[in-house]
Amino acid sequence: MQKRLYLHRLIGLLIGCGGLFLLQGCESGIDRQGNEVKDERTIVLGFAQVGAESSWRLANTKSIKEAATAESMQLMYINGEQKQENQIKAIRSFIAYQVDAILVSPVVETGWENVLNEAKLAKIPVILTDRAIKTNQSDLYAAFVGSDFNKEGRMAGEFLMKKFAYESDDVNIAELYGTVNSSPAEGRSRGFKETIKDNPRFKVICSQSGDFMHSKGKEVMRSILSTYKDIDVLYSHNDSMTLGAIEAMEEVGIIPGKDIIIITIDGEQKAIDALKDRKVNCVIECNPKLGDTIVDLTKKLLNGENIPSTVFVDDEVFTEWDDLSTLPPRGY
Ligand code: AHR
Repeated sequence: MQKRLYLHRLIGLLIGCGGLFLLQGCESGIDRQGNEVKDERTIVLGFAQVGAESSWRLANTKSIKEAATAESMQLMYINGEQKQENQIKAIRSFIAYQVDAILVSPVVETGWENVLNEAKLAKIPVILTDRAIKTNQSDLYAAFVGSDFNKEGRMAGEFLMKKFAYESDDVNIAELYGTVNSSPAEGRSRGFKETIKDNPRFKVICSQSGDFMHSKGKEVMRSILSTYKDIDVLYSHNDSMTLGAIEAMEEVGIIPGKDIIIITIDGEQKAIDALKDRKVNCVIECNPKLGDTIVDLTKKLLNGENIPSTVFVDDEVFTEWDDLSTLPPRGY
């Protein structure tokens, strides 16, 4: 930390570099003693990640680490272990360290005002990666980069309506919910329900949180199956929970993808394999490879350029009706 503060002071003393020195730096400068000093200035990013709850999350972390390394940026990475308090503590340590920018993937949507106001006061820009927040204060962060979760939910609902277009019976849906009060879970649920709401035969008969985790997905699915005997569809907010739920179904002799239609989100290789094996019927992609976009935006931001406040990445839909034989490996 001392070295870091020293570097900041030293760079602050360099003459003629103006506001751009943070990113572009000077090739060299003169210190107080009149010696030539090489500018060692490296952009330092603090990254408060949600955790390591899924393969999706691991791929997301990898993408951001690789993109920062490729641009010779220093990344201070902290695994929040699914706890907002850990992420808040991490952001405070980034502020104390005077990083150049803070990346945060907020585990839940609310409760960020205090710490983000502290970052604002310290003039450290914040970029929300993957997950969004709910706040009335629009100047607490510079940009959001990630998927449109509402749209993912709508795409899930659209598949469901097509799948059951030629049947007239009621369709009982179990929803495996992600982390309560997290933007992906809220958006995916909202988008899905908006899409099916005008057709009363689609009924979400239970909705329980598996916290985006394999083990909890399995546990919750076991409990749903023991309570409800008439589930037609599982709508699961992520692949990790889905893979756990499939295990729970197979334990009791239910054929996933046939006895219970399964719609899942993320697009992990294992979910695509399950789609090819007919254990899953539809996979909505959530693209975890956000690193290049985030690093590019951060560079622009630190260069004083205007950046868009929301950048949605593209997500695809893979269904049981598609030819998946040429689909390249997913990489996560
Ligand atoms: O925020 C994105 C979600 O978080 C992904 O769908 C899930 O796998 C992760 O836990």
